[in-house]
Amino acid sequence: MSANSSSTAAALALIADDMRAMDAVIARRLKSEVALVSQVSSYIVAAGGKRLRPALLLLMCGALGYSGDQRHNLAAVVEFIHTATLLHDDVVDESTLRRGRETANEAFGNPASVLVGDFLYSRAFQMMVDAGDMRVMQTLAEATNVIAEGEVLQLMNMHDASLSEEGYLLVIRSKTAKLFEASARLAALLAQSSAALEACCADYGQALGTAFQVIDDVLDYDGDALEMGKNLGDDLREGKATLPLIIAMQRGTELQRKTIREAIETGGTAQMAEIISIVHSTGALTATRAAAAVEAQRALDALQALPQNIYSDALRQLASQLLDRRS
Ligand code: IPE
Ligand code: IPE
Ligand code: MG
Ligand code: MG
Repeated sequence: MSANSSSTAAALALIADDMRAMDAVIARRLKSEVALVSQVSSYIVAAGGKRLRPALLLLMCGALGYSGDQRHNLAAVVEFIHTATLLHDDVVDESTLRRGRETANEAFGNPASVLVGDFLYSRAFQMMVDAGDMRVMQTLAEATNVIAEGEVLQLMNMHDASLSEEGYLLVIRSKTAKLFEASARLAALLAQSSAALEACCADYGQALGTAFQVIDDVLDYDGDALEMGKNLGDDLREGKATLPLIIAMQRGTELQRKTIREAIETGGTAQMAEIISIVHSTGALTATRAAAAVEAQRALDALQALPQNIYSDALRQLASQLLDRRS
């Protein structure tokens, strides 16, 4: 285990009991009289996943000194919403591998994945009502809506080789960073933090989530499918202009630009080897990692407003180690 992954492990060890309590909530709330609902939802939940959004919420609760039971309920809620987005996303992206196993759409078909995704969304809404707090509901209702907008925006941008960095950023802030932001904000709401502190928590979540997705987009070209538990090259296959390609087009020769443009416009992986070579040789992957580092620094800056304790230290570790993640 590298020094980094072991200190991430140490950060997560702080909330090991909380994560177990959240897993118990998840197991209890996954139950349904309808056999296929339990089957599909257990299939994807049992495959694991990093549980990063609940970890963020629980560490933030620790940092802010909230230790009430609602934290386990809301941690399960954000994981349910995340899982619902994955079920839907894998249908839309026609992905075949997730969390190291066949995607639910591969194993059970698209209709089951879409409908069980709907079950998880609506179960999450039932659970969030238990918090009895209008701001909690507002936060999650808005996050869910923005995630959907982000996915639709991305759909509209497919095969568009002229997508700008700003356009890319809007998509990833919506589809990914918004749920990180909501997870961090929920902790502040539970802890009844001041509006100013709540805003800093939300900023931390947003910056962390943005960095997380930017690195994900690097790993789609430069990762290891076994470690990631999903197939590489999916972005190019779908004709998605992510930051590595946007930067490579800015930096490449006319010929390299044309190769990338055509690959985005047509989709498919015929040019994969050539494009991987271009994103390396133009320094686009390094520059994309640097863009993630800027976001990670923004996350660290936002943490300065938080109380100093082992939990805020752990949040600091998360932000600084995210850049080295391989899975
Ligand atoms: C996958 O999220 C979707 C993205 C935002 C890239 P995670 O990488 O957090 O997925 P799991 O839950 O660990 O499988
Ligand atoms: C993740 O998007 C899905 C959401 C955040 C809703 P991607 O399609 O980029 O992520 P992976 O690669 O399938 O995990
Ligand atoms: Mg996908
Ligand atoms: Mg997608």
